[in-house]
Formats: sequence, C-alpha cells, structure tokens
Amino acid sequence: MRVLVTGGYGFFGAWIVRELLGQGHEPVLFDLDQNPRRLEIVLTAEQISSLPFHQGDVSAPGAVLRACREHGVGGIIHLAGLQVPTCRARPIDGARVNVLGTLEVLEAARQLGESIDRVVLASSAAVFGPPSIYPAGPLPDDVRLSPGTHYGWYKLCNEGNARVYGTDHGVKTVALRPWTVYGPGRDVGMTSEPTRAVKCLALERPYKISYGGVQDLQFMPDVAKAFTRCLCAPWKGPKAYNLRGTVVDIGQFHQTLAQVDPRAGSLISHGDSQLQIAPDLSDASLQSDYGPLPPTPLAEGLSATLRIFRDLLAKGQLDTSDLG
Ligand SMILES: NC(=O)c1ccc[n+]([C@@H]2O[C@H](COP(=O)([O-])OP(=O)(O)OC[C@H]3O[C@@H](n4cnc5c(N)ncnc54)[C@H](O)[C@@H]3O)[C@@H](O)[C@H]2O)c1
Repeated sequence: MRVLVTGGYGFFGAWIVRELLGQGHEPVLFDLDQNPRRLEIVLTAEQISSLPFHQGDVSAPGAVLRACREHGVGGIIHLAGLQVPTCRARPIDGARVNVLGTLEVLEAARQLGESIDRVVLASSAAVFGPPSIYPAGPLPDDVRLSPGTHYGWYKLCNEGNARVYGTDHGVKTVALRPWTVYGPGRDVGMTSEPTRAVKCLALERPYKISYGGVQDLQFMPDVAKAFTRCLCAPWKGPKAYNLRGTVVDIGQFHQTLAQVDPRAGSLISHGDSQLQIAPDLSDASLQSDYGPLPPTPLAEGLSATLRIFRDLLAKGQLDTSDLG
C-alpha cells in the first residue's frame, strides 16, 4: 500500500517508514522540511534518497489532501505534531498543529472516501490524568480521561474527532496511545530523558533524568509494528488503544541499564517526582483486536539502543545536539 506518513522525518516517522519498507509498502513522507538525521539512523542512504517527500504543514488548509491526491495513497499514518513542552509554551500553535492538523488529515480521508482504507493516528498516554485519580492498574482504554496538559487535551480531542469522522462519514481510524517511547532518534519531548541517558552512557558522560516514579517504557520498533499492524489488519472500529511495554519505576530502569553496562551505575542518576500520567495501562484490547504484539524486554531494547548509539559514535555520526 502507498502510505502517507505525516511527521515522517520525526522519531516515530523514521522507524515506522523502516517497518513499512520492510513489509513491502510504499511510504510517502509529509513533513515541514527534510531533516534526515533520524532516518539516517535506521535506513541506508539509498533508501532515504528513494523516498518520495511532500513538503507541507499539516495544519495548512488542504495540504494533506493535496499530498494524498498527488501520491495516490491508500492509507495515512498521522504522526506530525508538537510535543508537551512546545504545547505548554505555545498553546495556540499546539492547537493549530495538533488539533487542526489532525482535522485536516481526517477531512482529507473523508474527501477521498473509499480510496483511503485506514487512518492510524498517534494519540498519547497523556490523555490519562495523574495516577492519584485512578484505582490500581492496569487501566483499560475507556476509563475517565482527564489530561493534565494542553497536549493531552489536544490528543483527547483528536480521538473524539476521529470517532465522529467514523460515525458521520465512515472514515476508518485507529488511535494509539504510546507512553515513554525510547530508542535511537528520540531526541525531543518530555519523556525523551531515558533515551538521552542511554546516549550519555554511550558517550561515557554523566546524565541525570530529572524525574522519577513509574512509567511505561516502550521500544520504538515495537511501537512501529503496532502502527503498521493497525494500518493493515482487518479494522475493528474507530477505537483508541493503550499500548504497553515495560512498566517500571526509574530505579528499576536504572538497574536494568546498569545490567546492560555497569558504568550506568555511576554515570546515570534520576530524580524522584512522578510524571502526572497514569503509568499502568492495559493493552488487552489492542492485543485482542490487532495482536499478538509482544513487547521487547527492557534489557534487550536498552542494549540495542546503546549498541546503535555506540556504532554511530564510532562512525562520528552520533547527534548530540539534544544534550545541550
Ligand atoms: N515520542 C513519544 O514517546 C510519544 C509518546 C506519545 C505520543 N507521541 C506522538 O507520536 C507522534 C510522533 O512523535 P515523535 O516522537 O516522532 O515526534 P518528533 O517531534 O520526533 O516528530 C514529529 C515530526 O512532525 C513534524 N511536524 C511538526 N509540525 C508539523 C507540521 N505543522 N506539519 C508537518 N509536519 C510537522 C516535525 O518536523 C517532525 O519531523 C506525535 O504526534 C507525538 O505527539 C510520541
């Protein structure tokens, strides 16, 4: 299938494009501009140069529709968006890109009718409120959602709009709610710190994760598989699904990283404040509708991430611009 990937040059974009290519699909990248630094981590120069690119802003009226028409796509994976810190600092820009941009994607799918088989949207676990308002988990997809950030409300609004495009216009959507996704290429956003810690370990530099508490660490290649599965498998309705990787507190994350490389014991440290998003979410509905989607064990994902960072470092290609 030819698939428009909005935000195709981002962290998710790079790994999802890789997964799509591996499955024989034809990804078309839609993004503000062409910065290949994340794609270069996972694809060959030849693969990157052969990828069709459509430059555009998702929130520009009609831009996504034009891209879909021009490239004759049959599905959309919508990833373009601004992350928590940007939405906090610039809520109006956040709403324009994250909410209006998603409406542009849904509207494009409506206009194109049956030629768009599926729209898979990146929602977020940030649609959940703080752990204190919930009973002990794992929490299903459909508990009370009460985000504590603009970003979380935008994502919740997108889930609602996707559902209404389904009931009103028959657009087939699936929304996925990642938590902390880690892996090479993760360099922006509130939960990018565990990946930065691994990068600092590769550089043998100290790093302090500014928070603590429990979170769900999800390895990017697993998340990429979930997105592509939801694109291609028989559709189960306009639902929003939790994802689940490894639910651990940061202390356990630190211990696991120290098992992978003992130097993490002294180089990496962490704070203790819990992020205000319920961390213990059940992915039972996703597994039942689109599974099996088994998570990579944390030690294995961290070890692979460290290995890729070390390889890049050895080749003089490790991007450290996110480390300040
Ligand atoms: N990384 C995570 O752990 C995580 C967790 C939950 C949800 N998500 C969601 O997954 C999606 C992808 O996240 P990511 O980590 O790849 O983010 P990213 O910041 O690495 O990539 C986002 C991409 O979107 C592009 N973009 C931004 N504004 C745009 C616009 N107006 N028009 C076109 N392109 C635009 C950027 O240039 C970038 O290439 C986002 O919607 C994010 O909210 C990510």
